[in-house]
Order: sequence, then structure tokens, then C-alpha cells
Amino acid sequence: MIFIKTASEIDKIRRSGRLASQTLDHVGANIAPGVTTRELDRLISGFMASRGAVPATLGYKRFPASSCISVNEVVCHGIPDSRIIMDGDLVKVDVTTVLDGFFGDTCRTFKVGNVPPKAAALADATYEAMMLAIAAVRDGARLGDIGFAVQSHVEPKGYSVVREFVGHGVGKEFHESPSVHHRGEKGAGVKLKSGMTFTIEPMVNEGGWKVKVLGDGWTAVTADGKLSAQFEHTLLVDGGGSEILTLSE
Ligand code: MF3
Ligand code: CO
Ligand code: CO
Repeated sequence: MIFIKTASEIDKIRRSGRLASQTLDHVGANIAPGVTTRELDRLISGFMASRGAVPATLGYKRFPASSCISVNEVVCHGIPDSRIIMDGDLVKVDVTTVLDGFFGDTCRTFKVGNVPPKAAALADATYEAMMLAIAAVRDGARLGDIGFAVQSHVEPKGYSVVREFVGHGVGKEFHESPSVHHRGEKGAGVKLKSGMTFTIEPMVNEGGWKVKVLGDGWTAVTADGKLSAQFEHTLLVDGGGSEILTLSE
């Protein structure tokens, strides 16, 4: 069952999403070589708390932190800890706010200092893929159009799309229907309708698509140890287009 949101629900998701985006702005201003991922997580929880929001990840299926921070070969669900950010790292920070009962979910890949050109190219292609997928969203489009947009942008560059983790509906719940796959066929799958809200959050690998989950039960890394990048926005299907609900302004 895919919920169609009311105007007032959309407004709450938008306000939560804006705060999530502002949280990432705050992280971006503080991310630098020498800082630990745990220190960044503290900044995140402090920022959210000061604005009346709660981090959705904390305690979610026993996840122990206020954000997911995933460095280099870590694909997603990295647990903030004593790891020190280094010059040249690709650092994915994924935050989800709960504000007034509604969720906002967004992720960016930050390039720290002098990032090798190959790593920068991966991050750029992942961002472009997300934006192309967003451009495919409108009333009457199909879920498969989204996956197709991601896949057809990154695969010709030799990258691969992670299969295990997908986007999802967002609203009063963290993860709602539908599942938003980042690979797909044009014209296939569920038809999008105005008022649907969901994430697009492609994870793109420099090498193969396979991931493995470490012994902590969360940290997902590339099976081949190569780099991975991710961006995520929460979107509203809105007539002939979409609105990004996770923008700072
Ligand atoms: N924010 C992630 C997503 O985009 C989910 C993280 S769940 C956690 O869906 F438990 F790992 F935090
Ligand atoms: Co998400
Ligand atoms: Co997320």
C-alpha cells in the first residue's frame, strides 16, 4: 500500500527534510582530516536536538548512532566510531530526522581534502545519476524509469549499482512502500502518482556490485574493497515533475 500524502503531511515531511539537509550542511562545514566519525555523529545529534528533532536511526533495529557514516569502501550503514577522517576520503553521511512525527531522509558523499580524481569522478557520477533519476519522476512515470536512469548513467562508465539496498517510501514511517530499486527497465513497475513521497538513494561502486556486511551486523562494505559513493534525497511526486523535500532553503 503506497500512501498518498495530504498537503499538511507533505508540509511536515518538507520541514523534516529541510532540517535533515541543514544537518548535512552543518556536517559539511565541520568535516576535515583528523575528526572522528563519532565526533561528527555528536554534531549531528546536537544539531537535531537543538531544533526539536530526533535522529531516526538511533535505536532503529538497534542501530547505535544518530547517523550512518560510511567511509571509502563502506557502502552504507557505517557506525560512527573512533575512525579518523583522512585527507582524500570519500565520506558518506546519511541522516534521517523525525520532526513532528514525520521523517526526512538524505545522504551526501563528502570529498575530504585532496580526493584522487578517480574517487571524485565516482562521487560526481553518483550525484548526476540521482539527479537524472529525480528528473524522471512525475505523475504517470514508472518506478522502473528511476532505476533505468541511474543504471544507464553509471554502468557505461564501468561502475556498478548496489542491489541489496534500495530507496523507499517516507512519511510517518522511516521505510514505507514502495521499494525504489536503482536498476530497472523504462516503463516497468508501479505507476507514480502525485502525493507519493519516497527516497532515491543510489549507491554506486567503482568495482563490482557485491557487498558484504561485517560482523557488527550493520557495516556494509564492497566485496572487492573498492570505493562506493551515495547520494539520497526525499522526493514528492508533483504533477508533471517532482519536488525535492530535502533541500536546505
Ligand atoms: N537512512 C538509511 C536509509 O536511507 C537507513 C539507515 S537505517 C540504520 O534508508 F539503521 F542503519 F541507521
Ligand atoms: Co533512505
Ligand atoms: Co538515508
